Amino acid sequence: MTRVLVVILVFSLTALTAGEGDYSYVGVNTCKMCHKKAEKGDQFGIWSKGKHANAFETLKSDEAVAIAKEKGIEGAPSEAGECLVCHATGWGKPGGYEVLSAEFIADEANAKVVKKNNTKANVGCESCHGAGSGYKSKKTMEGIYNGEIEGASVGLWTPAEEVCTTCHNEKSPTYKEFDFEAMVAKIAHPYPE
Ligand code: HEC
Ligand code: HEC
Ligand code: HEC
Ligand code: HEC
Repeated sequence: MTRVLVVILVFSLTALTAGEGDYSYVGVNTCKMCHKKAEKGDQFGIWSKGKHANAFETLKSDEAVAIAKEKGIEGAPSEAGECLVCHATGWGKPGGYEVLSAEFIADEANAKVVKKNNTKANVGCESCHGAGSGYKSKKTMEGIYNGEIEGASVGLWTPAEEVCTTCHNEKSPTYKEFDFEAMVAKIAHPYPE
């Protein structure tokens, strides 16, 4: 009896406090494992050919360097939080992309961490769907798909316009007006009919 009560208590506390901070970013390769089959719509393949998958590389362009210089940012834009907040996944949040030092990267003992971190460069799946630690298991994903679990209760966001405009806004140094309908069509990765 006590045990049941404890379980219920813990469960309701979790439910009460469930917010963005409770989940951590897992990186695009985790999603890739299950979302690359052509018969299911190959969401990974579509994403990887789009501009979001190149957003980190963009920070290494001459244009990016010039923008950063003009803004008085010291060092490379690909290492600057002012740029990474929109050009990487989960910057500044639990499990999100981090700038690792050259020494850290050079140490082979850190190879795994480095590799994982690289899967969070770019605007990955979780930039729009939310940090994946709470929903990435097959059982949970199927539960959401079947309507048995509410996505939001495990950190899966509905990628509505408000999610896009956390990045597509006037704080972007190259801001272009954002037309949600048109832009969503450009990134579409639905299940096949
Ligand atoms: C272990 C396998 C697995 C992993 C890992 C996984 N998914 Fe899924 N996901 C599924 C399955 C299975 C479904 C149900 C639809 C289907 O069969 O493709 C699904 C459905 C979804 C849906 C639709 C949910 C709905 O409302 O119907 C989204 C969005 C999604 N996944 C995003 C992601 C993202 C983002 C990641 C990485 C953080 C991820 N998935 C990781 C297996 C997985
Ligand atoms: C984490 C920040 C972030 C979020 C969230 C985000 N984007 Fe983006 N988006 C970017 C960045 C950065 C680029 C530019 C990438 C580049 O050119 O290297 C971009 C580029 C694009 C492009 C390509 C524009 C072109 O010129 O072809 C489209 C389309 C787009 N986003 C649509 C969306 C939509 C729709 C959403 C929401 C469902 C969204 N984005 C959410 C950061 C974001
Ligand atoms: C508030 C989010 C945000 C921030 C911060 C941000 N970017 Fe971007 N960046 C975007 C988006 C969104 C795009 C896609 C085009 C657009 O709407 O601006 C983009 C596109 C770009 C492009 C491609 C040029 C183009 O016309 O598409 C470059 C280069 C770039 N950003 C450099 C930077 C640099 C350098 C920084 C840091 C000083 C930075 N960005 C900070 C969101 C951001
Ligand atoms: C720029 C934002 C953005 C990114 C990045 C993104 N998605 Fe999505 N995703 C969306 C939007 C918007 C929808 C449509 C939601 C709707 O219509 O309810 C969607 C729908 C889906 C669906 C459901 C398809 C359907 O037909 O219902 C799956 C599965 C999915 N995304 C998986 C992924 C995976 C896996 C990745 C990374 C490889 C990814 N997404 C990257 C915004 C994004």
